[in-house]
Amino acid sequence: MWLTVIAVWVAEALIFLPSLAHARRDWLERKLREGQLAALAASVGAVQDDTRADLLRLAGVEAVTLREPNRTLMLARPGARPDAGQRLDIDSDMLPGALADAVGGLFRAGDVLLRVRGRSLLGDDASVAVLVHRHDLDRVLASYARHVGAISLTVAAVAGLLLYAALNRLLVRPLRRLTESLAAFRADPERAATFDPRASDDGEIAVAGRELAAMQRELRAALWRNARLAALGTAVAKISHDLRGILSPALLTAERLQMNQDPAIKRAGDTLVRAVERATDLVRRTVEFAREIPVVPARQRMDLRPVVGEAVEQARAACPALAIVNEVPDALVIDADRASMVRVLANLLRNAGEAQARQARVSAAEEAGEIVITVNDDGPGLPAEVQERLFRPFVSGGRPGSTGLGLAIVRDLMRAHGGEITLVQTGPAGTGFRLTLPRAARLPPRADAAPRPVELPG
Ligand SMILES: Nc1ncnc2c1ncn2[C@@H]1O[C@H](COP(=O)(O)OP(=O)(O)OP(=O)(O)O)[C@@H](O)[C@H]1O
Ligand SMILES: [Mg+2]
Repeated sequence: MWLTVIAVWVAEALIFLPSLAHARRDWLERKLREGQLAALAASVGAVQDDTRADLLRLAGVEAVTLREPNRTLMLARPGARPDAGQRLDIDSDMLPGALADAVGGLFRAGDVLLRVRGRSLLGDDASVAVLVHRHDLDRVLASYARHVGAISLTVAAVAGLLLYAALNRLLVRPLRRLTESLAAFRADPERAATFDPRASDDGEIAVAGRELAAMQRELRAALWRNARLAALGTAVAKISHDLRGILSPALLTAERLQMNQDPAIKRAGDTLVRAVERATDLVRRTVEFAREIPVVPARQRMDLRPVVGEAVEQARAACPALAIVNEVPDALVIDADRASMVRVLANLLRNAGEAQARQARVSAAEEAGEIVITVNDDGPGLPAEVQERLFRPFVSGGRPGSTGLGLAIVRDLMRAHGGEITLVQTGPAGTGFRLTLPRAARLPPRADAAPRPVELPG
C-alpha cells in the first residue's frame, strides 16, 4: 500500500510543480489587469485622492503605469515610486525560471517590491507596469500549495487504498492461495488437497493455478505408481530369490545331462544350462535395476579419449567380432563421472556388437558450449517396434538374453549429468546415437533427490 501511495504522490508532485508556476503567472497577470483597470478608472474626470487610494488597494498594487502611444497614465499610492523594485518582464518569464521562483517563494521570508511589466490588452503598442509586494504573491502561492498538498495527500491515500485493495484481490490473495497449496503439497503430497483453480480467465495467475493443479494431479499419480512399483520391486526380489532356489536343482540336473555320453542328450543339457543361466541373469538384472538409487555423478575433469578406450575394452570382451574406432581427439576434456561415462559408452558399443554390426565409430567435438559424442555403427538398424520407446526400461528387440535396460540406464546417466542421449539415425546402413554433455558442471543433482519415476513398458 505504501508503494502505491508513494507512487501516486510522486506523480502528483510532478503535476503540482508546473501548476504552482501557473498559479504564479495567473496572479501576476491578474495584477497587471486590475492595475490597468484602476489606472483607467482614475483617469476619468476629477477623481478624489481617497478614491485613487481605494482603487489601488482594490487592485492590490502600489503603483501602476499604463503607456499608450498617445498618452501615459500613472497612478501611485502616496510615497510609492513606480520605477522602484525588482524588475520582472512577464513576456520573457520562462517556465524553468518561473518554477524556481515559485518554489523559492514558498520558503521566502520578508518582503520586497516587484515591478511587473507586460503587454496591455488595449493594443499591441500599449504596455503596463505595476508595483506589487512580493510577499502578497508568496502568500498566495503558499496557500495554493497547502490546498493542493492536502488534496494530493487525500487523493494519494484513497488511490493507494483502492489500488492496494485491487492488487490484494487480483494478485496477492490468489498468489497466497497458490503458495499455500504448494507448501501444503510439499509437506504431504499424498494427502494435501489438489489446488482448486477457481478463475476461468486466461490471466497469468489463473494459468499458473491450472498448471499447479495439473502438476499436483500428475505428481500424485506418479507417487501412487511409484509406491506400487516399489511393492512390485520387493515382490520381484522375493520371486527372484525363490526362483534361484527352484532353478538350482534344474541346473544341477542339466549339468549332469551335459556329462552324458550321448551327444543328443549332451546338447539338450547345454541348451538347458544356457536357458537356466539366462533366466537367473534376467531376474538378477531386473532386481538390480529396480534397486538402483538415483545416480549422483562424482564429476571430475578428464580427457575423453582414454574413457572411450576403457569402454572399447569392455565392449570388445563381450563382442570380439566388433571393430571399434576411437576417433576422439586427444585434447578433448569432459567434466563427468568416469565410471558412468564408461558404462554409457560400453552399453552403446555392446548394443552395436549384439546387433551384429561389423564396425562402430566413436567421435566427439565441442559445439556451442557442449561436448557432443557420437556413436555410429554399420549394423542392421533398430527394429521398428523398438524405435518409438527406445529409452524405456524393458523395451528390447527380443534378442535372447536381452533385458531392454541398457538404453534406459544410459539415458538416466546422461540426464544425471545435465546431458541427453538422442537417436540421430537408424536404418539398414547403421545406427547413430548422439550424446551431449554440458562443458562445465551445471547444477549438480541433489543427493537427496527423489528417486526417478519408473516408466513401465507400453
Ligand atoms: N546399435 C543398435 N543397432 C540395432 N539395434 C539396437 C542397437 N542398439 C539397441 N538396439 C535395439 O534396442 C533394444 C534396446 O536396447 P537396450 O540396450 O536398451 O537393451 P538390450 O540391449 O536389449 O538389453 P541390455 O542392454 O539390458 O542387455 C535392443 O534390444 C536392440 O533391439
Ligand atoms: Mg543393451
